[in-house]
Amino acid sequence: MSEKSLYERLGGIYNIAAVVNHFAEELSKDPIAGENTSNPFLKDWYANRKWREPGFVVLTTLWVSEKAGGPYEYVSTVPNDNSLDLEPTHYDMKLTAEEFDAAGKVLADTLDHFDVPEKEKNEVLGAFTAHKDEVISGTIK
Ligand code: HEM
Repeated sequence: MSEKSLYERLGGIYNIAAVVNHFAEELSKDPIAGENTSNPFLKDWYANRKWREPGFVVLTTLWVSEKAGGPYEYVSTVPNDNSLDLEPTHYDMKLTAEEFDAAGKVLADTLDHFDVPEKEKNEVLGAFTAHKDEVISGTIK
């Protein structure tokens, strides 16, 4: 029998949404990628566009669901050929590798908070890291 998809092993859309929601809350408190960040785009986002956070949670939940092999599909607000490509939506944020890695630590802690098993945790972190160059494209290109 073939193994269940990561989506199923994570417990489906409600579990993924709960993880993404907690991640967003914790990220805002992180000294490097949170409200006190030195990144100008992020600083302005937290100060003036925090109302967009529920939309971020919805879109990121769909992104993770599709990436994990679930039945839901993510559609980017910036249309492009490869729907899971994060470069078009993150390029202008000029995120650094340090900020990305800080978010990765917050994600790892969030997965621990929900007692996600080691195997699934590593798969989620692997999917996150696989898109690093797209997310930090604004500072490496
Ligand atoms: C692999 C890692 C990441 C994934 C999967 C991801 C996923 C997403 C998705 C799906 C969106 C919605 C894009 C759209 O409008 O269609 C988004 C937006 C956003 N992301 Fe990421 N992201 C990642 C890394 C990061 C990092 C490291 C940061 C900052 C530290 C960040 C900050 C943001 C912000 C602030 C928005 C909202 C932009 C807006 O208000 O339009 N992302 N992200």
